[in-house]
Amino acid sequence: PRKNSRGWDLHDLDDLGEIDTARTPFQSHQWQAKPLLVAEVVGREMIDVINPARPEDTVGHVLQANSEDAKTAIANAKVWDVPASERASALRKAADLYEENFGEFFAVLTREAGKTPMDAIAELREAVDFLRYYADEAERLAPTDPRGIFTCISPWNFPLAIFSGQIAAALAAGNAVLAKPAEPTSLTAFVAVTLMHRAGVPQSALQLLPGRGRDIGAALTGSPQINGTCFTGSTATAQTINKSLAEHASPDAPLIAETGGLNAMIVDSTALPEQAVRDIIASGFQSAGQRCSALRVLYVQEDVAEPFFEMLFGAMDELVLGNPWEYATDVGPVINEGAAKGIRDHIAAARKEGRVLKELRTPDSGTFVAPTVIRVDGIKDLEQEIFGPVIHVATYRADQLDTIVDDINDTGFGLTFGMHSRIDDRIDQVTARLNVGNMYINRNQIGAIVGSQPFGGEGLSGTGPKAGGPNYVKRFTATAAQHIAA
Ligand code: NAD
Ligand code: ALA
Repeated sequence: PRKNSRGWDLHDLDDLGEIDTARTPFQSHQWQAKPLLVAEVVGREMIDVINPARPEDTVGHVLQANSEDAKTAIANAKVWDVPASERASALRKAADLYEENFGEFFAVLTREAGKTPMDAIAELREAVDFLRYYADEAERLAPTDPRGIFTCISPWNFPLAIFSGQIAAALAAGNAVLAKPAEPTSLTAFVAVTLMHRAGVPQSALQLLPGRGRDIGAALTGSPQINGTCFTGSTATAQTINKSLAEHASPDAPLIAETGGLNAMIVDSTALPEQAVRDIIASGFQSAGQRCSALRVLYVQEDVAEPFFEMLFGAMDELVLGNPWEYATDVGPVINEGAAKGIRDHIAAARKEGRVLKELRTPDSGTFVAPTVIRVDGIKDLEQEIFGPVIHVATYRADQLDTIVDDINDTGFGLTFGMHSRIDDRIDQVTARLNVGNMYINRNQIGAIVGSQPFGGEGLSGTGPKAGGPNYVKRFTATAAQHIAA
């Protein structure tokens, strides 16, 4: 059986002491990240990384790769042509090193990406689970033909888990990887790749290219020498990449894209209100709402709506916003000022129309957005994903359920969906017709577990196959079709 990732219990004083001892040396450390290439890199642009919760805290500096580096990285990339068992054992070794270095990861995830201790633990565990799961997949599917050079482009909201998961899957199949982390979280990526190299992944099989999406990302996806692209990020960027690949890449080079969502939850009059409120708070506000899986539109049956919203708003009053380094913090900052402004503008427009039902207060400095509830008529009122701690709420009559399902499907997105009800037939009525990748019944709708809940969307939310599931690594192989048919 696969080794489970290590957990930490934030209610256990011994675990808290252990976390403190391990992360304190990194509390004011400044990381220095640079491209990790086979070739030497000199004299590129350097950017500062600032803690989103504390503007006075400089977390480190990143030497940016440029399009010339992309070319040399492609020229030096070599598929990892060793037996699958050797690749698997390096990936497992990397997982062990990630766990050994948990203090550094918790510190960099909090100071660079604004992760609370709870989010940082979940993130590290998911990364470790991905490494071990894809190591097992390498052996289960062996022998496989790698496709060649894979570009892995990742988002800032899971700077360790998704970053490592993409790379591990591509390496498991024996590909050479060019990893392009998101601009705001290159320090976390640098620590991760350093440990993967230390675990035995050759430099020529894994090169790190921190830099801007429109420069380095575009240079990679515009190269005819790339044999496959794995992307997680916004739907708009996936569409840009798709166009570039259509123009430049070989027709058989796959694009695996995991993108955004407009995720709904339905709470009917038979739901257990205390449980539903707890799960709504987690789904909408954990990670400051910066999860692709997060709840965006909540439908509550009108018969119970008034007391239900009162309970929800009361629970929101208990949320602690602040420095994510502190254990008491429930909601940290959003990633940067640009993101905060976009979300605040959305809230301000709703406030002008008298549609803000509940809004908390934010700390005075840092890129915080207050958890907010906005009234809407339904999901059709939203044109795009609002990537922050904002839940839109609507009420409905029992005879409107089928229309709600149609409206959700009509958005074109299909990532996660949640439902709270104690009537099985009603759950079936809704879930049977919904086009979404991951459905959650009587629980929260975030935090899919690698190997147990393969994660991915439909339509505008992703191409599949689902990450952390048995079809994922196959897509990174040239023999994928035979494997899937088998
Ligand atoms: P983004 O699309 O802005 O950026 C993602 C990555 O693409 C970054 O590394 C960026 O540098 C790169 N990029 C930007 N322009 C590019 C270009 N022209 N060519 C190549 N690469 C380019 O997304 P983000 O803001 O980093 O992440 C948040 C988004 O990711 C949200 O929409 C969220 O829903 C989505 N997401 C989806 C999943 C999933 O599994 N479905 C998981 C996490 C995040
Ligand atoms: N896998 C992440 C979640 O389920 C995106 O929340």
